[in-house]
Amino acid sequence: MQDGRTTLSKYLIDTLDRQPSPVAATGLSALLIDVAAAIKTISATLTKGALSGNYGSAQSVNTHGEEQKKLDVATNEIFVQHCEWDGLLAAMVSEEMDTVYTIPSTYPRGEYLLAFDPLDGSSNIDINGVVGSIFSVLRRTGDQEAPVSEADFLRPGHEQVAAGYAIYGPSTMLVLSVGNGTHGFTLERDVGNFVLTHSDIRIPEDTGEFAINASNERFWEPPVRRYVQECKDGRSGCRERDFNMRWIASMVAEVHRILMRGGVFLYPRDFRTPQMEGRLRLLYEANPMSFLVEQAGGVAITGRERIFDVAPRALHQRAPVILGSKNEVERIQRYHSEYDRGEDKPYTSPLFNKRSLFLPEAST
Ligand code: AHG
Ligand code: MN
Ligand code: MN
Repeated sequence: MQDGRTTLSKYLIDTLDRQPSPVAATGLSALLIDVAAAIKTISATLTKGALSGNYGSAQSVNTHGEEQKKLDVATNEIFVQHCEWDGLLAAMVSEEMDTVYTIPSTYPRGEYLLAFDPLDGSSNIDINGVVGSIFSVLRRTGDQEAPVSEADFLRPGHEQVAAGYAIYGPSTMLVLSVGNGTHGFTLERDVGNFVLTHSDIRIPEDTGEFAINASNERFWEPPVRRYVQECKDGRSGCRERDFNMRWIASMVAEVHRILMRGGVFLYPRDFRTPQMEGRLRLLYEANPMSFLVEQAGGVAITGRERIFDVAPRALHQRAPVILGSKNEVERIQRYHSEYDRGEDKPYTSPLFNKRSLFLPEAST
């Protein structure tokens, strides 16, 4: 299909409805068009900025104990309203809803399950920075007549049938996969169409760019400290090349950059979080982003295993996330296994190495 000429609807009809393929699924294209409608509405709301009257705190907290902004609540509502009526969904799960939202009995019920983060990177709202939305689609297994339960959503990432994100930047884009590559559509605002502009995105296998919130360094495990230190050492260190660092505090923006030009993103296990699960949520952040990254030739791991193989135990479960360019992510996985086997070279903190002020010879 031709970049710049193919609308989202045409792409979905051609891909899902006309071709007998493993990804073909009744109603999935219609569901994704409803998700895209929600994204267009969110995009229009965000474009108004403070004039929308939706700025500031909602004076409430979500299930993670995080303060909800008015826009977290409003964008959640937009997703629900655009997707609950169409007869394609059985239920939804969102970062901003504590429990499973079962489709009300006033609407027909379908076979799909939608998990979403309606506004990712919402701390960027106050600074007019880049934000996004993330979504994941599962097909419900088992008795379709039975009441929907949490267990319906607790499926590993490799069972997703579609996933995507919207990025609300200078332009609004929808990046999507139904299991046959990762494709990007740009919103033509005056017409209201998503137009295919980035077909079959491929993440370069090598990169010189990494993204991590370095303020958490003291909580990281040794393999992550080792990797980041080696990147920072640059040309004079064992990597013998310089690296660049970025941190936008919106996973959507980081993953988008990686899809466009490569890179590696880490929100790893750390000692701050219970069971060292990291910060990001498995069902509606880690899994859908892993789908898009893997479909673009990248790799997504927790550090020790493929994110797709993590068996979810809870709706709002967190997961460590390391994803992006294949060769860097595989190197980080190797550092984890070397550490677990006790075979890695000991990590030396820059504060305590040979140039450190803390060494006796430095103070003489
Ligand atoms: P959300 O706004 O949905 O809570 O997600 C923000 C997430 C993710 O997008 C980003 O990578 C990370 O939180 C930023 O976390 P820090 O503030 O710890 O850097
Ligand atoms: Mn998020
Ligand atoms: Mn969010």
